[in-house]
Amino acid sequence: MVELLPSILSADFAHLADQVAAAERGGGSAIHVDIMDGHFVPNITIGPPVVASLRKCTPLPLDCHLMIENPNEYIAAFADAGANWLSVHYEACTHLHRSLELILHHGMKPGVVVNPATRVDLLIDILPMVHHVLIMSVNPGFGGQEFIPFSLNKIRRLVELRGDLELDFRIEVDGGVAHDTIAAVVQAGAELLVAGNAVFGEGHPERDARALLAAAREAEDRIIASRVGAGKSKIH
Ligand code: DX5
Ligand code: ZN
Repeated sequence: MVELLPSILSADFAHLADQVAAAERGGGSAIHVDIMDGHFVPNITIGPPVVASLRKCTPLPLDCHLMIENPNEYIAAFADAGANWLSVHYEACTHLHRSLELILHHGMKPGVVVNPATRVDLLIDILPMVHHVLIMSVNPGFGGQEFIPFSLNKIRRLVELRGDLELDFRIEVDGGVAHDTIAAVVQAGAELLVAGNAVFGEGHPERDARALLAAAREAEDRIIASRVGAGKSKIH
């Protein structure tokens, strides 16, 4: 079943607890938290203290997306702050295997993220270690950017690899997920849908999360119905 992960990057930071509660009422099933250091990406956001505060105001898993250099140095701090899922960029890790082991060692669910220009095939050897793969469908750093269409091919390729390798990691997509793109993203095979601007951008996170999730579920229902239809036509 597809899930919506509201990204607080586009939330009103002066009312973060209320914004997170609203996104949760709207059907968000984990809160996506973007950690940026001004080096790996050209923007600076938040660190472990804010994650610790978020931990106190929601029971939902905190899906922390590290867009930082030297991520290994901060993994323990995010575990202590209460992060549940922690993802690191393929491009930021000199020793990706070690980073994923460190995340596991600290009791979090490890994820690996790929930038738009990074091929998912490069991940083959470490796929058995991850809980989720996050496909960036924009260049990371800012909310509200336009979805890069070839990301759909990467999602499809990852679905194929997961089947070939008989694995069960989850496929997450992040960047430009909105009403005009969500059906295609679901159709391609992504299950964890991160959305920032489309949830928080208009200042109505509960309403907008609900509508976006409904659109994703409709797209999913159409896929299931078409599979059932295809099955029936084979029988006749
Ligand atoms: C971008 C972040 C995203 C961002 C997505 O670097 O990783 O999580 O919040 O924002 P939208 O949904 O507005 O593209
Ligand atoms: Zn993100």
